[in-house]
Amino acid sequence: MSEWQGRTAVVTGGGRGFGKAFGKALAGEGAHVVLVDIDAGGAEAAAAEIRALGGSAEGMGGDVTDEARMAEVMAQAAKAHGGIDLLVNNAGLHSDEYGQPILKMGLAKVRRLFDVNVIGVACCTLAAHPHMKGRAGASIVNISSSAAHMGGSAYGDSKLAVAGLTITFARELGVDGIRVNAISPGLMLTDTIRKELPEATKARVQAMQLIAGDGLEEDIVEALLYLASKKARFVTGETLRVTGGMAAGV
Ligand SMILES: NC(=O)c1ccc[n+]([C@@H]2O[C@H](COP(=O)([O-])OP(=O)(O)OC[C@H]3O[C@@H](n4cnc5c(N)ncnc54)[C@H](O)[C@@H]3O)[C@@H](O)[C@H]2O)c1
Repeated sequence: MSEWQGRTAVVTGGGRGFGKAFGKALAGEGAHVVLVDIDAGGAEAAAAEIRALGGSAEGMGGDVTDEARMAEVMAQAAKAHGGIDLLVNNAGLHSDEYGQPILKMGLAKVRRLFDVNVIGVACCTLAAHPHMKGRAGASIVNISSSAAHMGGSAYGDSKLAVAGLTITFARELGVDGIRVNAISPGLMLTDTIRKELPEATKARVQAMQLIAGDGLEEDIVEALLYLASKKARFVTGETLRVTGGMAAGV
């Protein structure tokens, strides 16, 4: 029997992209999945898709920076099996709009970028913690980025803070039996990236990889399933880079 049977996973930013792919994979393994997204309709539609495939899922609307709403969401999620076993802090701003130089973006956008990408991780972790404490095999996986390791952008700086928070929360929550790890994806061809990324940029970024080819959603799903599983029971405070080698050694 899969280790995910009878367990609950909360995935933020679950309405599309990686979040939806994580939800599908975890539900396919038998977990009850709660998809949280600022786009409530997207979260519900993704959950309906999972249910149509025979999985157990609910979609909930909410902004990861909204402390009161995240407390409600985590309490609701915990009802299915008496607690939360996995939190995936995946929601993040990374569209072209938030990938500009700071001088161009202006402070309001930088503030929102850090609020969602960094404070959102802390907010959801604090909200989920009471429901995860003491659960056997409980863990948190944060989604950072290869940009965190390469420097030179506000987006990368926000994701560097995610890698930092991963270590800090691993230190603070280890006593409660909760492992905390992160994944730094490289360029992965999610729907958003396929739509927005110019071919020339894709070619320039892929030229930095050590191995050729497209990074895919499935590559990140596999990393998540490992880090959240019993196989990684002795792994905490780590950031796993899945970048085709782009961020190796930097
Ligand atoms: N796709 C890539 O190549 C790539 C690479 C490195 C890191 N990442 C990171 O992976 C994560 C997911 O990426 P994706 O490509 O699936 O993104 P995406 O833009 O396709 O999906 C992000 C989801 O998060 C939701 N969201 C945004 N702000 C939110 C908020 N405040 N509260 C709740 N939900 C919110 C969006 O509505 C959306 O459904 C992000 O954190 C991103 O920075 C992606």
